[in-house]
Amino acid sequence: MATTAPRPATRRAADDISYTDLYERWERGNWSATEIDFSQDKIDWNERMTDAQRRTAMWLFSLFFHGEDAVTDGLSPYIDAAPLEEQKYFIATQQVDEARHSVFFNRFMNEVVGVGDGSIAGGMNATAGQLSWGHKMIFQGLEDMCVALRADQSPHQFARAITLYHIIIEASLAQPGQHVIEHFLEEADLLPGFRSGISNVALDEQRHIAFGVKALADLYDADPKGTEQAVLDVIRENGVYVSGVAMPPNWDESYYDAFNASYDQLGRDGLRGLESKLLAIGINLHEVERSPLPVDLPFEERAARGRVLLESNLVGPDRPASRDPYATEVMFDSIARAADVHAVAPGTVIEWSFTDADPWQLSFDGGKCSAERGSMRKADLRLVISFDDWADLFAQRADARKLLLSRRLRPKGSLKLFAKFGKIFP
Ligand SMILES: [Fe+2]
Ligand SMILES: [Fe+2]
Repeated sequence: MATTAPRPATRRAADDISYTDLYERWERGNWSATEIDFSQDKIDWNERMTDAQRRTAMWLFSLFFHGEDAVTDGLSPYIDAAPLEEQKYFIATQQVDEARHSVFFNRFMNEVVGVGDGSIAGGMNATAGQLSWGHKMIFQGLEDMCVALRADQSPHQFARAITLYHIIIEASLAQPGQHVIEHFLEEADLLPGFRSGISNVALDEQRHIAFGVKALADLYDADPKGTEQAVLDVIRENGVYVSGVAMPPNWDESYYDAFNASYDQLGRDGLRGLESKLLAIGINLHEVERSPLPVDLPFEERAARGRVLLESNLVGPDRPASRDPYATEVMFDSIARAADVHAVAPGTVIEWSFTDADPWQLSFDGGKCSAERGSMRKADLRLVISFDDWADLFAQRADARKLLLSRRLRPKGSLKLFAKFGKIFP
């Protein structure tokens, strides 16, 4: 990758990372998943851990195990697409790491928990029931991304692929989860074999994330605007799934209590990690137009918004959606934040005229889009629809064309504006 574009004026964290150093760190950090001694772990698992702790461990470790398997399988198109030899070599080392992580989790599942038959497929089958909706969606997305990268090795597609793998999956999902696991097991002095493995996994992941940051920073130097768009698009596309990955089964918070952690803590840490990695690349979410994350709000509130959308079924596979006023407000505020204000004339008003709930309006004024409950202004376009049908559309559980054909979605007013809907809310 040629780096002829001027570097950003302020020095970024990515400027301190070199591919040579990352490779050397890999050689120095080599470890063996097959030599870990699980004898004390077996005693801890059977005699010292509570049922609740075992249930949480089984759930969290299964999410990791399946994640490690998916990232092992998904890396080869990255090697082909990487423009620099040094990048290709590093990704090759990373693929070895991911396989080792998978072997480590499988060994623990088989030798300590006693599930599976020792083969990777056997271990995965035995733990597949633990996976959350968000986990399945994110890793299906990774599989699709790998197919896309095989077909298109352009820098733009490479940037998209690194964003999903290294920034979203590794930095914002896996790393905070590893910290929760490590912290709890250390404090409770449990599972020493597993602990030594997961601390090596965490060190490996640190290196993988650093590589992702460096690779994206290089792509950013060559094409700041295009790379920024690729990165932000992938975050926008996956935002609805990310909050669902570590959702405890049936929202049973005791899964987290057993490990002295909480879903909200994980959400906050994930969002913080994501924002800091983007900054390290050169992308300041506070300065971009149409940030995919509401960065003007404190981290607590950002995480709370992800939770409320998921809890009220405005995100996720389950229906019907709740009509909780705060959840509805967060939904419309999210729609307003995602809107492209340049796609419509200033002063435009779009109304959601719910057949069975209060109406909501979005107004485009002064280069901003804002949402308001009620029917305060004359709308240029009104969408007549039931609240449940709209919730299904928002959560991507329904197809707008089908709702239009069956007249369950009726646009009134400017049809020209309606035709531009996909442009306004890309
Ligand atoms: Fe890994
Ligand atoms: Fe990794």
